[in-house]
Amino acid sequence: MGFSWYYFLGILLCIINVCRGGITSSYVRNVESSEDMPLDSDVFKAPHGYNAPQQVHITQGDDVGKGVIVSWVTVNEPGSNIVLYWKANSKIKQKAKGTVTTYKYYTYTSGYIHHCSIQNLKYNTKYYYMVGIGHTTRTFWFVTPPPVGPNVPYTFGLIGDLGQTYDSNMTLTHYEMNPTKGQTVLFVGDLSYADKYPNHDNNRWDTWGRFVERSNAYQPWIWTAGNHDVDFAPEIGEPEPFKPYTHRYPVPYKASGSTSPLWYSIKRASAYIIVLSTYSATTKYTPQYKWLEAELKKVNREETPWLIVLMHCPWYNSYDYHYMEGETMRVIYEPWFVKSKVDMVFAGHVHAYERSKRISNVDYKIINGECTPVNNPSAPVYITIGDGGNIEGLATKLTEPQPMYSAYRESSFGHAILDIKNRTHAYYSWHRNQDGFSAKADSFLFFNRYWHPVDESY
Ligand SMILES: *[C@@H]1O[C@H](CO)[C@@H](O)[C@H](O)[C@H]1NC(C)=O
Ligand SMILES: *[C@@H]1O[C@H](CO)[C@@H](O)[C@H](O)[C@H]1NC(C)=O
Ligand SMILES: [Fe+2]
Repeated sequence: MGFSWYYFLGILLCIINVCRGGITSSYVRNVESSEDMPLDSDVFKAPHGYNAPQQVHITQGDDVGKGVIVSWVTVNEPGSNIVLYWKANSKIKQKAKGTVTTYKYYTYTSGYIHHCSIQNLKYNTKYYYMVGIGHTTRTFWFVTPPPVGPNVPYTFGLIGDLGQTYDSNMTLTHYEMNPTKGQTVLFVGDLSYADKYPNHDNNRWDTWGRFVERSNAYQPWIWTAGNHDVDFAPEIGEPEPFKPYTHRYPVPYKASGSTSPLWYSIKRASAYIIVLSTYSATTKYTPQYKWLEAELKKVNREETPWLIVLMHCPWYNSYDYHYMEGETMRVIYEPWFVKSKVDMVFAGHVHAYERSKRISNVDYKIINGECTPVNNPSAPVYITIGDGGNIEGLATKLTEPQPMYSAYRESSFGHAILDIKNRTHAYYSWHRNQDGFSAKADSFLFFNRYWHPVDESY
């Protein structure tokens, strides 16, 4: 009697949620080869003029959004380190002085790479800025975020594993054309894929910088390091990991007490964003471990309700590619994420799209056999967005059956938008590149884990 009752309950639970995997999209993308755009492509053109600044890009330059780091490259000579900047409605120009660096990689020598940190800007303000003083000047603009606070709406774009193929160009175009305008890009790693070329031809780092300038000069991209950014090649005399990446893409890591540009945090509007490095040591006693342990304690959800983590390699991934690669890191940090009620984790690496339900696997102790992820309302939603469209092509092989924790998965290129409405709600949507158009294929209304911890994922 008891048996059949439990049996019935079991089936019922199964039907409701517990055992059921989510949706594997029936959309089948046309298989095309993912080719890099040729060097003479329009998107790679260098600007005209003697020593004209190129590859102009910005990122957040402090811990709260009142700072911006402006970077650019000059090729003829170092030129000026000065950035002139002024408020959109003002004629008074201010000046900031940066630094210049170069690096060599095998037989490649970089241009003059400039970085200039502008601090103490006004919140919520449009600024123009000019680089190339003394030679060919170029002028761009950006808008600073609103002050950090619990009810501040803000919109983030999400792009990963972009590379520089025709598909990459489509993804970036679709992001730019999205009617919900992203104000800042959260980039989850793997930028140029220069390492796919013989001797990691670093000219492909330059073409990538020129390619994304059209977005990245006008809004900050928040950087995460991926495996294609390591450029570790002792066989050609290049044993320094992340050499091109760290020379080109500075981040404000010291502002968050980090000792490495590979992991850091920023606050922006109502979000607290923690960036981790899956290609640095993560085990107990390591610098990243110590930093993250202290970092999570600093998060104040009364001030920044949304706790977002970016990393390159996903922990929950039901594709056949990079399967379980994130496992060693998950085992160490997942209990912290659950305890801290992280809202969402964005990762890349797998060249496809996947969204999880709120699940954890923190009870597993090797000896207890409890090795199945279970529903956990305090756990983050895990999103894989490594679908920027790079030279390696799509991940199309899935593990079957779809695990119960996987809510939606699809092998297409695309981008996503996270539209934070207030401290309780954030509207998220993923947009595939479909036959030259952008089509919304997945969406999700996030409830905040601190202010409205109802499990919306089942
Ligand atoms: C890249 O996309 C832009 C914007 O849609 C377009 O103008 C340009 O021609 C494209 N370039 C290539 C090489 O596809
Ligand atoms: C937050 O935004 C959601 C979605 O737009 C809305 O339904 C809700 O009423 C808002 N809550 C507050 C406190 O403004
Ligand atoms: Fe990767």
